[in-house]
Amino acid sequence: MLSDKNILITGGAGFIGSNMANLLMKTNQITVLDDFSGGKHQNLKLPEQPKNLKIIRADLRTRDFFKKLDDHYDLIIHLAANSDVRSGSEDTETDMQINVIGTHNLLEFMRIHDCKELLFSSSSTVCGEADILPTPENYGPELPISLYGASKLANEGFIWSYYHYYGIKPLIFRFANVVGRNSTHGVIHDFIIKLKRNPEYLEILGDGSQEKSYIHVDDCVNSMLHVQERATKGDVVNLGNDQRTSVTKIAETVRDQMGLKNCEFRYTGGVDGRGWKGDVKIAQLSTDKIKSYGYKNRLDSDGAVKQSVSEIYEQMK
Ligand SMILES: NC(=O)c1ccc[n+]([C@@H]2O[C@H](COP(=O)([O-])OP(=O)(O)OC[C@H]3O[C@@H](n4cnc5c(N)ncnc54)[C@H](O)[C@@H]3O)[C@@H](O)[C@H]2O)c1
Repeated sequence: MLSDKNILITGGAGFIGSNMANLLMKTNQITVLDDFSGGKHQNLKLPEQPKNLKIIRADLRTRDFFKKLDDHYDLIIHLAANSDVRSGSEDTETDMQINVIGTHNLLEFMRIHDCKELLFSSSSTVCGEADILPTPENYGPELPISLYGASKLANEGFIWSYYHYYGIKPLIFRFANVVGRNSTHGVIHDFIIKLKRNPEYLEILGDGSQEKSYIHVDDCVNSMLHVQERATKGDVVNLGNDQRTSVTKIAETVRDQMGLKNCEFRYTGGVDGRGWKGDVKIAQLSTDKIKSYGYKNRLDSDGAVKQSVSEIYEQMK
């Protein structure tokens, strides 16, 4: 486990970022940079020694954040982004501004301040509708079908180029669907909110047969840190699970765990059965590489969904 390091976590008040910050602040000096557009202060547990945690409200889209940060960080974990994949079907600016420009600004900060280590949150969406499942890290051509996926692919390109030009060592993690406590969005979060509002029926986007692999946030965060300790050079690593879970199965899990046996499912049908235009219908990343690093997930896809329903429902009570 990392200790005594000065670590910057962008998006550290968001879902994955707060889980990462809450773990690392036990043994390190943590700076959370977040504009709080989606993140919340209450996601962060105040550490025993509050001087271990610095919270900076800043927007990555402009370089004003440079002067708010320390001169140097041992490690930067970049999780800030527009994480709403759906928004790109109507809003063509946000993924470009936050994800692409924001990440480039952060890379410039790293170059100028000689920060060498970066953990980056990419996504399975960079591969688009891959015709190889499970999809390995070296799959190509990568043809994203959403602006979000395109922005993450652009990020990967910029990051890899900074690796070669400036020696910034990146570990690029392509996440499957991450679920668990402090969720700010996603299918489980949406279903619970809808059913709390009206327990009689559940609107399901698409035809319910969309299948993806889900990973619990604890496995996501722990596997990133596991690779960080072992990788000797830059790498791209998928983080997911070997099995897929359908949207209908998630709906059934949420319904059963909320004790709503008579709730009716109403499918929107969506676009070709997808939740929305740009939604990849079937996604599953190969986990061979993360296994070769010696990490084994604690929960499989169904187990991650089940535990997350309890955690998110409990937090919303
Ligand atoms: N959750 C998933 O299933 C998943 C899957 C693949 C990739 N990812 C990626 O992982 C990262 C974390 O995702 P998450 O699910 O925790 O999302 P999240 O929305 O909960 O967290 C993102 C955080 O970034 C902050 N932020 C947004 N715009 C910002 C800006 N301009 N400047 C500074 N901060 C800003 C938000 O306030 C939020 O706290 C994101 O990069 C996301 O794209 C997530």
